[in-house]
Amino acid sequence: MRMEDKVVVITGAASGIGRATAKLFAQEGAIQILSDIDEEGLRETFDILKDDEQNRTTIMKIDVTKPEEVKEMMDHIIKIFKKIDVLVVNAGVVRVGPVETFPDADYDLLINVNLKGTHYTCKYAVPYFKKQKFGSIITLASVAAHIGQTAHANYCSTKAGVLGYTRALALDLAPYNVRVNSVSPGATDTPMLQSDVAKQARDRGISYEEVKKEFEEEGVLGRWATPEEIAYGILFLASNESSYMTGADLRLDGGWTTQ
Ligand SMILES: NC(=O)c1ccc[n+]([C@@H]2O[C@H](COP(=O)([O-])OP(=O)(O)OC[C@H]3O[C@@H](n4cnc5c(N)ncnc54)[C@H](O)[C@@H]3O)[C@@H](O)[C@H]2O)c1
Repeated sequence: MRMEDKVVVITGAASGIGRATAKLFAQEGAIQILSDIDEEGLRETFDILKDDEQNRTTIMKIDVTKPEEVKEMMDHIIKIFKKIDVLVVNAGVVRVGPVETFPDADYDLLINVNLKGTHYTCKYAVPYFKKQKFGSIITLASVAAHIGQTAHANYCSTKAGVLGYTRALALDLAPYNVRVNSVSPGATDTPMLQSDVAKQARDRGISYEEVKKEFEEEGVLGRWATPEEIAYGILFLASNESSYMTGADLRLDGGWTTQ
């Protein structure tokens, strides 16, 4: 098992990619602290783990936009588990629409969760990573960090920010033997993408299936990723198999940005 006795923290573990990652890491023997703002979803993630996996799992309701909650979580984890081997900075939201009518409140949410949430999650873990002198941090960027997407200017700006943040943090933590990388998923079949597609369908007056087909055709593989396919990339970056990678971005996008 590749994660045996490793302490793994995942934000946004109540759904989609976070949940799939939690399932995979549980099978690989990790001791996990799963967090999310959605307590019911977190409980569902916990319930789908096997008994022995549940014994190695703690769930915590945490809002990554609240620095005091994030700090409390990191301090608690260190108190109980003494170390963090892997931090998966996954919690995120999407809001789409043309910039001229984009609600300020939606942009605030995108910045607060995707950018500042990423920062707070790293900020309160970094002192411990520096002290222990090992570990791997994985952030969630997106194809939206690399290319433009129609009606996604605000979302793209936050994900491009995550990419820059990840690269720079990799430099700061390299002297401490801590690696920092991102993954950039393409269209991945999760509640987030489904809500994105539904909103675009409503805004453009076309069917859900039509928008879905457009997204499927973005990648040369011609389909959406499963959350599990993204989780395997995260596992690679978490494991020693990627020991010479830092400041890198792993594009898991079905060839979307290759064209
Ligand atoms: N699904 C895709 O196509 C896709 C593509 C590229 C990148 N991503 C990124 O992958 C990550 C996971 O997305 P997903 O598709 O699994 O979405 P999802 O909506 O299924 O899961 C996101 C999780 O983040 C949680 N969350 C939201 N706000 C939070 C907050 N303030 N505090 C704590 N948790 C919060 C949600 O409750 C949810 O459980 C996100 O960062 C997203 O931007 C997704």
